[in-house]
Amino acid sequence: MAKQRRELPPQTISSRIVKEGVQALRDELERLRDEFNQKVAASKELEELEKLRVQFLGKKGEITMLMRSMNDLSAAEKPLMGKLLNELKQAAAREIEKKKVELNEQFQLREQEAQRIDVTLPGRNFNTGRKHPITLVLEEIEDIFTSMGFQIGEGPDVELDYYNFEALNLPQEHPARDMQDSFYIDKEILLRTHTSPVQVRTMQKMAPELPVRIIAPGKVYRRDDDITHSPMFLQVEGLVVDRDISMADLKGTLLLFAREMFGEGREIRLRPSFFPFTEPSAEVDISCIICNGRGCRTCGETGWLEILGAGLVHPRVLENCGYDPEEVSGFAFGMGVERIAMLKYGIDDIRLFYVNDLRMLRQ
Ligand code: DAH
Repeated sequence: MAKQRRELPPQTISSRIVKEGVQALRDELERLRDEFNQKVAASKELEELEKLRVQFLGKKGEITMLMRSMNDLSAAEKPLMGKLLNELKQAAAREIEKKKVELNEQFQLREQEAQRIDVTLPGRNFNTGRKHPITLVLEEIEDIFTSMGFQIGEGPDVELDYYNFEALNLPQEHPARDMQDSFYIDKEILLRTHTSPVQVRTMQKMAPELPVRIIAPGKVYRRDDDITHSPMFLQVEGLVVDRDISMADLKGTLLLFAREMFGEGREIRLRPSFFPFTEPSAEVDISCIICNGRGCRTCGETGWLEILGAGLVHPRVLENCGYDPEEVSGFAFGMGVERIAMLKYGIDDIRLFYVNDLRMLRQ
């Protein structure tokens, strides 16, 4: 659009020059000088300046074309006009160069400005992550047992019915096998409902080597969902197999664990219970960490809090796993990590661990 204002094709100028003589050329020269100066002064970018150079001084530029139209002048007029036009051309070239230097300087200044560091700005805040309370408790449990000489064992989350139930002496019609309680993938494969299958996998791998001394932390899955049950939760399994292992070893180990985990004054008690894979079996309680055994709401006025199931490894399980129950014996236990964390941190809804509410997780 800007071009439209000025565009007088050289032919037209030529014809005007023919008709009106030198005056037309002078007018055109003035006009071009003004337009050029104005446009160069207004240009803000180097590319813009280059376009102007082409527009005025290029091969087909306006000044160049005007010089060509001098052919139409008489021999007498040529020298003066030639001089004027040459001056214009040289002045224009100088202007472009000058402006170029100027724009370059401005560009560099802007660059420097952009890189300037404002030392008065407040520092940037780094949001450091922190460990989830479940991870903290898990690590603490692992530390306590590894310092007692336990190693860490592992098994798959997607487990064979054989390891999860069969080898653990869970009879075919056991209610835990019910589709209602377990996530089955097909008839033989399910999400493990406890970490006890790691007992089987470990013993079968190690037999007849002694001693076996492992804990096996990991995720387990059950069809449960309320304030104390989550469909996925964590357990830590414990297993010791050696000669002459008795309930006394179990109790001593768990008492040490309870005191390390919940404080020096802790007591534990074993109540008779039943698990298919242990005989005898026990439910293990710690003295209430809130009331120290006097009785309060947390412990239901009993003074005791249940923290795990345990027992001596059932002879049939030892046998299934390649150990001779006449020669060796063992103890095992299984605890829920969330339950331990809830007790330790005074959290009353298990689901708080999984909803990623930072107000809870930061505490
Ligand atoms: N596997 C049991 C459960 O998930 C817990 C358990 C009880 C594990 C007794 C053991 C044990 O190793 O000896 O309920």
